[in-house]
Amino acid sequence: MENSSGTFEESVRRSAAIWRDLPEHPQRYRVLTGDRPTGALHIGHYFGSLRNRVKLQNLGVELFVVIADYQVLTDHDSVDKVPEHVREIVLDYLSVGIDPDQRSTYVFPHSHVPALNQLLVPFLTLVGMGELDRNPTVKEEIDAAGLTNVNAAMYAYPVHQAADILFCKGNVVPVGRDQLPHLELSRKIARRFNNRFCKGGTDVFPEPAALLSEAPKILGLDGTQKMSKSRNNAVYLKATADETAALIKSAKTDAERRITFEPERRPEVANLLTLIGLCTGEEPAAIAERIGDSGGFALKQALTAALNDTLAPIRARRAELARDAIAVVRSVLGRGIAEANARAERTLGEMRAAMNMDYALGPS
Ligand code: TRP
Repeated sequence: MENSSGTFEESVRRSAAIWRDLPEHPQRYRVLTGDRPTGALHIGHYFGSLRNRVKLQNLGVELFVVIADYQVLTDHDSVDKVPEHVREIVLDYLSVGIDPDQRSTYVFPHSHVPALNQLLVPFLTLVGMGELDRNPTVKEEIDAAGLTNVNAAMYAYPVHQAADILFCKGNVVPVGRDQLPHLELSRKIARRFNNRFCKGGTDVFPEPAALLSEAPKILGLDGTQKMSKSRNNAVYLKATADETAALIKSAKTDAERRITFEPERRPEVANLLTLIGLCTGEEPAAIAERIGDSGGFALKQALTAALNDTLAPIRARRAELARDAIAVVRSVLGRGIAEANARAERTLGEMRAAMNMDYALGPS
């Protein structure tokens, strides 16, 4: 049944079950996650996803992190900054505790894993044009980027993402809600491949499940929009304490003096309280209570202190790694690429066998 597992509620339920089981059976799971190299990472990435990745890694789960460099081609004209962005992102990863040295963690750009990209060809035959055209997240991205000429890879990138996930047989993908349509498509592709080519044999692919973040949504410091590179409303992991203080100082609040936590009515103030809570582990409402009539200035001071405290060790580590950035990044990617290639070639071999296309290799 194609649609039996496709509802939002089912994704939420599946995700909760995985969160419960992960600490008990980390070896059952392989996580695939990633980012486009479009710039350094900010606290939205940190609280929304990087912290989770480190947690999963440290539970002993195998973790593959794809740097989706080919995806940059879908909506960016220029590739000039790709190497710089990849370097920044890898340094960000390492500084927050992603640890390819000590753990089963692999960081790789998908442009360097030829067999992974080959999965795309059969996968594209398992998806209808209508399905690609209807994807709500792709539509939003096209609108947001103001693209007038949309290339075919833009429509196909959710299929490419399925290749990113399935080449290593990832069965868990930590995502935000906006990524659920993509993950649903990955599940369909896995299911359709198995149904079409693995009749009577063992399935090649698991159906990957979304692991939804429990972190509250963070807005940019302008309080109304997503935190984003292009909107100058983001605190970067690599920013200095002073830059952080200045950005928070200019953050939008409202005209009411007394601080209260009312996300619907006072989204800007609520966002700053949420951020403090993410740093300290306190409830935003309790923080609001404490600040109360001290007002917006005190709120901003509290956030500056909490955020700079939280980021201090990350920034120190990052500065240290950045001294030898090129060598550090090469070594991390070199190891990630080697492992990703080995896994991708193995999976491609299984696919060829299933698709009756392994006639050219091996004994006759
Ligand atoms: N599209 C994701 C983003 O823009 C990055 C990404 C590429 C990804 N491949 C993936 C995420 C596979 C999860 C799984 O952030």
